[in-house]
Amino acid sequence: MSNRAATSLLLCSALLLCAPVVWAKPAPQGPQPSGRWSYEPVGSAPLPPMGWNSWNAFGVDITEAKVLGSANVIRSTGLQEAGYVNINIDDGWWRKRRSADGRMQIRTNLFPSAATGGPQETSFRPFTDHLHAMGFKAGIYTDIGRNACSQAWSPGNPNLPEGTQPEREVGLHGHVAQDLALYFGEWNFDTIKVDSCGLAHYPADKPTVRNGTYRAFGPIMADAVPNRTDIPAVKALYGEARDALRRIRPKGDYILSLCNWGAGNVRSWGPDYGTTWRTSNDIDATWGRMLHNFDSVATREFYAGPGHWSDPDMLEVGNGEFDAAHLTEARAHMSLWAIASAPLIIGTDLTRAPQGIIDVLGNREVIAVNQDRAGHQGVLAYADSEREIVVKTLSETGAKAVVLFNRTAVPTDITLTAQHLKMRGDAPIALRDLWGGADRDPLLGQRVFHLGPHEAIMLKAVGTPELAKGRYISEMPGRVHVAADGIAVLEPDPIIHRPADPYHPGTTSTGNRPAYAGWGGPRADATPYDQTLSIAGASFRSGLGTLAGARLEVKADGQFQRFSARVGVDDSTRGRRAGVRFEVYGDGRLLATSPVMRFGSPAAELSAPTGRARVIELIARQIGPDIANVVVTWGDARVE
Ligand code: GLA
Repeated sequence: MSNRAATSLLLCSALLLCAPVVWAKPAPQGPQPSGRWSYEPVGSAPLPPMGWNSWNAFGVDITEAKVLGSANVIRSTGLQEAGYVNINIDDGWWRKRRSADGRMQIRTNLFPSAATGGPQETSFRPFTDHLHAMGFKAGIYTDIGRNACSQAWSPGNPNLPEGTQPEREVGLHGHVAQDLALYFGEWNFDTIKVDSCGLAHYPADKPTVRNGTYRAFGPIMADAVPNRTDIPAVKALYGEARDALRRIRPKGDYILSLCNWGAGNVRSWGPDYGTTWRTSNDIDATWGRMLHNFDSVATREFYAGPGHWSDPDMLEVGNGEFDAAHLTEARAHMSLWAIASAPLIIGTDLTRAPQGIIDVLGNREVIAVNQDRAGHQGVLAYADSEREIVVKTLSETGAKAVVLFNRTAVPTDITLTAQHLKMRGDAPIALRDLWGGADRDPLLGQRVFHLGPHEAIMLKAVGTPELAKGRYISEMPGRVHVAADGIAVLEPDPIIHRPADPYHPGTTSTGNRPAYAGWGGPRADATPYDQTLSIAGASFRSGLGTLAGARLEVKADGQFQRFSARVGVDDSTRGRRAGVRFEVYGDGRLLATSPVMRFGSPAAELSAPTGRARVIELIARQIGPDIANVVVTWGDARVE
């Protein structure tokens, strides 16, 4: 549809000179429909990647024997069959970049099979061949800048790259095409994790930069201060790596794992630049840090889906506060990652893992929730600072997975209702306890569950959907692509748990502050600022909360005939002056618009035949200025 409709008429002057005058109707402000599902996968991960990575277990003290040791256990214990197929090495593998031709050299004292032609002529091909012969895929690690995280943070470690300053520049910067061709061509890796210390941690005044060990870079990224990241520059660098990989592996048979710790608003652009993207700083094996990392993905349900996954970091199951003496915590951690559709990347030394830990990692029913083919991330159905109910729609008709989670160190009760599951309360809901491996009595209406300290109960529920026809869009977040979030000014998300900061132990700093942009992004069953959806006093348990200016693409694939919702400016809006017009498009054609809605006016019914559209687009268009963001609600938004 042209948005430049024009009208013309003839104006005649007193001198009878006539001239055509054309008034061009200005394009409406704000987002325009794309008419298509504009998300394009980067690499191939229809389901969250599963595997093992060396970092949480070994740090830079990595060896071929250690990697293969855990790989062997994955094979012999059935974890490989359960889905853990990616074996990824992290930081610590490199010796230097060869000065003659820039080819990367491997530390053959750590990876003996790489000494294919002596220390000068090294290759990971024997290593990847070995993993491939075992039925695994192989992953390698690099940095998007010139230097790596170990070089920034582990000075003096014997496994750091060596040689002259250029020889120590082991990151991709300046060598993107060469390095990726080596890693994915000759060395035949399948996965790459691309870290970003090179963009953030090499300022000119760093002692190792001042003394010439490393070259200064930027910084162009600040992990805790969104405003101090040059987002276009960071995207351009990651885009260069993505585009090179697309050329090297045109079939898309790779995983590109972005690792810039939730900085630079990556939670919104990650899906377009990587297969997975980290949403927070590094996890560690403490309860508080695990909560922090979970929270960084828990409210970003619309950003993940088949092919693209938010990454709250690798599992600590088996380590520290999640070891065999803490199986309750290990199961809770695993439950949360599973229901959040997070990558399940084991981070423990499996050669020393007791059976209890193998059992947590290998629970097939829990894994099946993570690997459900519909690829919907779990949505928060209830949350306070102590208890959460997370519900994930499964592909089986009428089935949901649910995690009831006690964040605290004291026992608590959680009442699960049919409403949380968007199921009818007057019909029995079959329940299966996934950690207990047993069916429970069906739920009728609601039930109280008693949870011990740090306990997560994980259930599969099969019941009668609340809607007689169709589905709430908030039940299907994997079908939504956030094409525009309407956020004009980045704000750090304040509802992410803030444990003691492992980078600044003690309390001499000013604290662990909210750090990750994304506050204000669209939400399922909540407003962008985590309030209950509400229009003129009427609240909605189901619906979409966005800012005015947002555009959502819903992948309908011709399966639905009608979209409907009750729309309006949300009662919690910050801006109360502007109007908002709600627009529904099917394959780019305008199907329905609301009147201009204002703060306080009751919800308007919006209903549109979608005529088997492949993509339904939802735009909340702001009409007129306001001094603050306008929060809108698509109450009960559904397709049938
Ligand atoms: C960063 C990453 C970690 C790990 C280390 C390696 O901290 O976030 O996951 O790769 O670097 O040095």
